[in-house]
Amino acid sequence: MAPLKAVFLAHTAAPSGAELATLRLLSAMPAGRTAVLYTEDGPMLRQMAARGIETRVVTNSFDSRAMTIDKAGIRSLLAGATGLLRLGWTLGATVRDLDATVLVAGSTKAMLMGAVAARRARVPLVWHVHDRVSRDYFGRALALVIRVMGWVVARGVIANSRGTLASLYTWRRAAVVAYPGVEFPPDNETAAEESVLSREPRPQEQRPAGETIIAVVGRLAPWKGQDLFLRALADVKTLPREVFLVGGTFFDEEPYRAELEVHATALDLPVTFTGHVDDPESYLRHADILVHCSVLPEPFGQVVVEGMRAGCAVIATRPGGPEEIVEPGVNGLLVTAGDRAGLTRALDTLIADRELRVKLADAARVRSRDFDVAESGRIVTDFLTGLPGKRWRRG
Ligand code: GLC
Repeated sequence: MAPLKAVFLAHTAAPSGAELATLRLLSAMPAGRTAVLYTEDGPMLRQMAARGIETRVVTNSFDSRAMTIDKAGIRSLLAGATGLLRLGWTLGATVRDLDATVLVAGSTKAMLMGAVAARRARVPLVWHVHDRVSRDYFGRALALVIRVMGWVVARGVIANSRGTLASLYTWRRAAVVAYPGVEFPPDNETAAEESVLSREPRPQEQRPAGETIIAVVGRLAPWKGQDLFLRALADVKTLPREVFLVGGTFFDEEPYRAELEVHATALDLPVTFTGHVDDPESYLRHADILVHCSVLPEPFGQVVVEGMRAGCAVIATRPGGPEEIVEPGVNGLLVTAGDRAGLTRALDTLIADRELRVKLADAARVRSRDFDVAESGRIVTDFLTGLPGKRWRRG
């Protein structure tokens, strides 16, 4: 049996959540057994290369970014499909050159292109699903189309949470949940852990109420709920000293950022927009509270785990991935997505109660250990190696 060579296919090279999760995952998989194939140039190429991961870029005249797959998008999907399929054919040749034993598609677009590429390279296709394929995101008809397509073309699926997995058809398909992990130093370096993880040590264990610092980390996008957060914040009893909205705009989301800035100024809130930062860790280590406020069910929510690892008291929304991460009242708080008053209440509770924050943050640090990316790397490596029915495999 040929040793594993998993080629991951990405339609974007922007550092968004799924791409950053892939970066960490590949770093945790055996060296030399993975490669990433992009259909555009972008920052992820350099980040992958910096970690010694093999990358390729394959483009043709088709601009996959011009095509959106969202609620309004069934027509755009069909219009773009020919372009995607053609690009898929071109990609197939590179997949073959890379000596792939399996092709892993990291998005819906990649799944479409990957279907053709995998056929051409005669390797099985695995769909690595970072989004819930549900009507909230895609609309009922498109969600159905994507689910069926995934089932038809992919030999197996890797889902980033149980909730994501439940949104797919997996009948007679290999399926596994691999949580997007966070990085910890290897066990034998535990003694040096503080120096590895705390590039910048925590300034202090949770500040008093009026001194608190809040971080909200994630791409600035309407469904991530930053506007709801600002409105919830405007109603708290004690304002924090400072709020960092950490996150960039990658997919035509600039108008949303402008809107948020107008809100923050109008509501007279102490908000700093940092834009995209490669490593939000230093903001998280500086913050007392991390707020995750997606208004749609979050597929996983890796920032929640990052905040917990960094020692923040977290507030996150449910339903969705955070429910699989946070045990409410034990290692964080959960509020219902879209419930502005509920978010204000949770903020009031945490801001006022420093002891509660200390307790939640301590338990959160411990909980974050369950999301070590080393484990995700093992799960995905085993899954891809043992994939059943490799009918198209060469050799
Ligand atoms: C996507 C999802 C997010 C998840 C990430 C990694 O960005 O929206 O919930 O944490 O992928 O899988």
